[in-house]
Amino acid sequence: MFMRPKILALCLLALLQGCDSKNKTIKIGLLMDTLQTERWQHDRDAFVKRCGELGAQVLVQVANGSDATMNSQAENLLTQGASVLVVIPHNGTTAATIVDASHKAGVKVIAYDRLIMNSDLDLYVSIDAVGVGARQAEYLVKKLPKGNYVIIEGAPTDNNAALLRQGQMEVLKPYIDRGDIKIVGDQWAKDWLPVEALKIMENTLTRTGNKVDAVLASNDGMAGGAIQALAEQKLAGKVLVTGQDADLAACQRIAEGTQSMTIYKSLTEEAYKAAEMAVAMAKNEPLTEKTTMVPNGKKDVPSILLVPMSVDKDNMMATIVADGFQKKEDVYKNVPKENQTAAK
Ligand code: BGC
Repeated sequence: MFMRPKILALCLLALLQGCDSKNKTIKIGLLMDTLQTERWQHDRDAFVKRCGELGAQVLVQVANGSDATMNSQAENLLTQGASVLVVIPHNGTTAATIVDASHKAGVKVIAYDRLIMNSDLDLYVSIDAVGVGARQAEYLVKKLPKGNYVIIEGAPTDNNAALLRQGQMEVLKPYIDRGDIKIVGDQWAKDWLPVEALKIMENTLTRTGNKVDAVLASNDGMAGGAIQALAEQKLAGKVLVTGQDADLAACQRIAEGTQSMTIYKSLTEEAYKAAEMAVAMAKNEPLTEKTTMVPNGKKDVPSILLVPMSVDKDNMMATIVADGFQKKEDVYKNVPKENQTAAK
């Protein structure tokens, strides 16, 4: 029995398409809020590298703080055939739309670093943000159990900022209740912007007549803004200031003595874990990593949460520099050789 030529051609085509889809390179979509904060460049590079090693191609889109842009970029990535979307939302609430649209297209979604709320999210990969907040506050109360504290929180649109506050308050509450710590300023900064922190700090210094002993700044960028305001009043280095991310500028300020500490988070590990999970999902393989459950308002989301670490001038060399996250010559660039006692 012979097939008719037309049917034969169709069968061959289907066969070829089948082979083609098996050998097709996996595409992973990476949707980013911003590249403004130094850390996100590191996350992107590590994520792209690990996906590449696993044979997947990454399509990167940056929304520059616009929710509408991120939504349309998500649609584009789905049209371009992304098998999985990895999302760092600008707004953790409105990004639920992206999860819905992806699921309609049969595509799974991983929230990276920032949780996507009220959605049927597939996985969350992050670094324990409550732990970050707790470590920042623990550092301050250990150095200064009594005094006037200013709190500068991150973006109200980012669930991490709320988690950070939760961790900070768990530590500070007994000190506040006893009247040992007085909160003389407490504000949230739009989009984690350093310039917002600068303004908040300038206003607080004016209002309190410079009576500030410690600043609980939620990340390094905002620590930079707060320290600029302190410097205007010749107070830089005299007031404790926290941070988060181990940005180069923050590590330099720690070496110079104007910032007290930062939180070092292994971004490479975070990005690698997300890349490995994304590729496994794209191949429909079961996830082998151990997960914990994090509620997002709609469900308990299987999550991988890594552990943050507190770093000041005393353990800078043994942690951030030893890991190669920042280079010694960069961190101590502005510190005269004779003062580099910690840089051994
Ligand atoms: C991240 C921080 C970062 C901040 C601003 C947060 O969601 O966890 O590491 O500093 O966003 O980009």
